[in-house]
Amino acid sequence: MSQTKGRVFSGARPTGRQHLGNYLGAIRNYVAMQDSYECIYCIVDLHALTTLENTGMLREWTYEMALDWLAAGMDPDRGTIIFVQSHVPQVTELHTILSMVTPLGWLTRLPTFKEKVRQQPDNVNYGLVGYPVLMASDIALYKADTVPVGVDQLPHLEFTREIVRRFNAHFGDILIEPQAKHTEFTKVLGTDGQQKMSKSLNNHIEIAATPDEITQRVMGMVTDPARRYRNDPGHPEVCNVYSLHTFFSPGDYERIEHECRSAEIGCVQCKRLFAQHLSDYFAPFRERRAALAENPDHVWDLLTDGARRASAIASETIAQVKDAVGLP
Ligand code: TRP
Repeated sequence: MSQTKGRVFSGARPTGRQHLGNYLGAIRNYVAMQDSYECIYCIVDLHALTTLENTGMLREWTYEMALDWLAAGMDPDRGTIIFVQSHVPQVTELHTILSMVTPLGWLTRLPTFKEKVRQQPDNVNYGLVGYPVLMASDIALYKADTVPVGVDQLPHLEFTREIVRRFNAHFGDILIEPQAKHTEFTKVLGTDGQQKMSKSLNNHIEIAATPDEITQRVMGMVTDPARRYRNDPGHPEVCNVYSLHTFFSPGDYERIEHECRSAEIGCVQCKRLFAQHLSDYFAPFRERRAALAENPDHVWDLLTDGARRASAIASETIAQVKDAVGLP
């Protein structure tokens, strides 16, 4: 692989079938970045271990997520490396070495860590504290110079940059200090119109949902709360269904906005339209996904091949790091 184009690395925890929030927030950016970067995308199963009590779903969730990624157009045939974090164990070596240049206070002060402590006070494990060191190891191991991040991950990227600078200051210019790429990470609300779309809140719509499942979920969506009667004028600017129309109904949303404001269409009709557009939008995706799912072994083979290619880069970095540190 040449490094002239700039190298992107991003990771996501295996959460199974992806939803509209994952799609608009991450996947479509991952696909688009393939046009201008060499891309490495990782399913970070080791990171998932820091918060999961029940690990029995990891294999299935990894597989389902890989299916969604591949069917959405993250494409090994375009040079993109897609792999599972634990398949390239060099990352744990780098994690150990980087942990020696990481002041503990930096980790415990991170807002992401404090949030986790609030969320799981009975499971503040050592791995959880080291979560950002593992993430820094991901990025540094593959010598990525660009990392797409949303605001929630910015502290982790800043941390990565500091660790890389610290390592390089001690041991020489080995690792690359990555830049954050502020892609527009759209925040998608769930079907409740209140909270962020998430699988754990069950307010999500899967991108692999069948047309019937889509209709069922969409018809249950909360719309403009101030529009109580069919003849009340609507307020698209506060309606979650409308904001999703702007993504998935490109030829239609201006008309819908107008007809909502003037009460020419009601919420039920608006949602029917949305369900139809959403279903049409993901129809080619569903077809590709079904074709891939016919042969699960092939999907695992693609991931194995991704790990093989990732490993070639990782081995080189680890050799340089060990040498620089002075390990015999
Ligand atoms: N911490 C990220 C998240 O929770 C996942 C992640 C792990 C990641 N390693 C990464 C993201 C490397 C970007 C780059 O979403």
